[in-house]
Amino acid sequence: MNARVARALDAVTAERAENALLSVRGLTVRFRLRGGRTVAAVTDADFDLAPGECLALVGESGCGKSVLASALLGLLPANAETAGTALVDGTDLLAAGEKTLARSVRGRRIGLVPQSPAAHLTPVRTVRAHLEETVRALTTTPRSRRRKAAEDAADRAAFPATHLDAYPHELSGGLAQRAATALALIGDAPLLLADEPTTGLDRDLVERTADELRRHADDGRGLLLITHDLTAAARIADRVAVMYAGRIVETAPAHRFFGATGPDHPYARGLLDALPDRAFTPIPGMPPELSDLPEGCAFAPRCPRATDLCATAPALHAGVACHHPERPRA
Ligand SMILES: Nc1ncnc2c1ncn2[C@@H]1O[C@H](COP(=O)(O)OP(=O)(O)OP(=O)(O)O)[C@@H](O)[C@H]1O
Ligand code: SF4
Ligand SMILES: [Mg+2]
Repeated sequence: MNARVARALDAVTAERAENALLSVRGLTVRFRLRGGRTVAAVTDADFDLAPGECLALVGESGCGKSVLASALLGLLPANAETAGTALVDGTDLLAAGEKTLARSVRGRRIGLVPQSPAAHLTPVRTVRAHLEETVRALTTTPRSRRRKAAEDAADRAAFPATHLDAYPHELSGGLAQRAATALALIGDAPLLLADEPTTGLDRDLVERTADELRRHADDGRGLLLITHDLTAAARIADRVAVMYAGRIVETAPAHRFFGATGPDHPYARGLLDALPDRAFTPIPGMPPELSDLPEGCAFAPRCPRATDLCATAPALHAGVACHHPERPRA
């Protein structure tokens, strides 16, 4: 990539920030552990999400994806410290108090499909009761039409009408997932964070859920899709952000990422090569402990392109944080 293309990419980034529904800069989360240790769960994340856009956030287990989503909604535990900014409609989510987040952000401006839906459902209430209560709390639907609105929401998320009167403990993982998706869609929030919304679903339900989320974005909302399922991401994402050891190491348009060109970061290429319908070659080694990250590039011990230069951490430049990307940046 030459300097002109890199400058053009930076201009696109600036324009995207201006029009963004969500604009995240320098988002950092640290967990303080007993004994003075610190877990660097998220480091310096920058990204924007535009109306009508689906951004897929991908990366191996434990790389910080869910912590990032929890930080945006003020759902981190007490031992977490955050830094940076996350702007939605002029509100900095990271600086907002619990009252603001509870009253005007969660469910209203940002919907969440949580990664562990069963933990977010009240055990003594049926799915129907959850749905009707959410319709009441987040919409102006008159009382007489709430039952129908709840059933419509279930249908949108492919939750079967036959299970509407079930209690959370009676649901399989896949059904709990669909109930959570139905709940998250009710408020028609302009922004949706969906954390592994297709886990536990059969492939046809994966496609149906992914397509419903895509429709949600096509209506002008923003969708942050956190997923291990690169096939689902390829189906609906406009852009892909790859996270490794708490950092976003590459952001790329989905057509380039999943197309013939492929990503530029060696880790992102490794993720794709590990897929059964591609090279089916796993990335060697394991991700580092987030409480003991190296000074330089955290991927270096697993990276086929590593050199001495990689002992210094690379900054994110023109969409990729690597000293030796597949296609070099200016
Ligand atoms: N309360 C906490 N205290 C300390 N460390 C935590 C806490 N919550 C999460 N972590 C750590 O933060 C890191 C990121 O976790 P996170 O749940 O965001 O990963 P993830 O990318 O969502 O993984 P998965 O794909 O398995 O869902 C992990 O190393 C995890 O152990
Ligand atoms: S900076 Fe070096 S070690 Fe890190 S991904 Fe790039 S080439 Fe590999
Ligand atoms: Mg997670």
